[in-house]
Amino acid sequence: MRRAFIAGNWKMNLNLASSVALVEGLVKATADCDDVDVAVCPPSVYLSAVAQAAAGSKVGVGAQNMYHEPDGAFTGELSGAMLKDVGCRYVILGHSERRNILGESSEDVNLKVHAALSAGLIPIVCVGELLAERKANKTMDVIRRQFDGSISGLTADQMKQVVIAYEPVWAIGTGEVATPAQAEEVHLALRKLMEDRYNKEVAETVRIQYGGSVKPDNAAELLAQPNIDGALVGGASLKVEPFVGIIAGARKK
Ligand code: 13P
Repeated sequence: MRRAFIAGNWKMNLNLASSVALVEGLVKATADCDDVDVAVCPPSVYLSAVAQAAAGSKVGVGAQNMYHEPDGAFTGELSGAMLKDVGCRYVILGHSERRNILGESSEDVNLKVHAALSAGLIPIVCVGELLAERKANKTMDVIRRQFDGSISGLTADQMKQVVIAYEPVWAIGTGEVATPAQAEEVHLALRKLMEDRYNKEVAETVRIQYGGSVKPDNAAELLAQPNIDGALVGGASLKVEPFVGIIAGARKK
């Protein structure tokens, strides 16, 4: 059985006081949550404060990005060891906003995945197609290319530590959520791909989150799909109530 995993990606939102207040609210609301993994991914400048407020609680902390080098002259970048140092357990890698707005390639993501695992972080590796790619029936080509490129060179044991997030770009921040059937189709294909590239055990172990306009009122239906193991939540993770509503949807799984 894969344990459900709900993560909030705060993107470039909130400030120091509201970040700490939000995580404090989540810590209280999840005090008895033993059946779902929960994490928040604040802007990097607030990681330390959020991790301190979440210490010893059910709320894990993740970063939204990192650099693949361990240290050195890389102005503006952060290493995996630095993220670990301030209390991170997870790091989101290859989010579509980084791929499409900031020009990150799957090769870049791959270097980061290796570096994250070396630093003891759990990478949440994002894949997802653009609307034009879906319309052109290229969804699985894109997913396969991004998956293969991003996880290249990982052993089966390393792969088992990775979390995949399927985030169709057309569903991110648009309110247009993928239907449970549309999402499940890609999640199942990703699982088959992992069986093909690795083995059945890897395919059955790796958790695949869905992301893109997940809200409390659609979460339970999405999470009821056999291959949807959690959610990566943007907008609805910025307040306690909707995020806790999504976690409640996962607890019904
Ligand atoms: P929304 O939930 O705001 O659509 O964002 C999804 C996302 O990109 C999470 O990483």
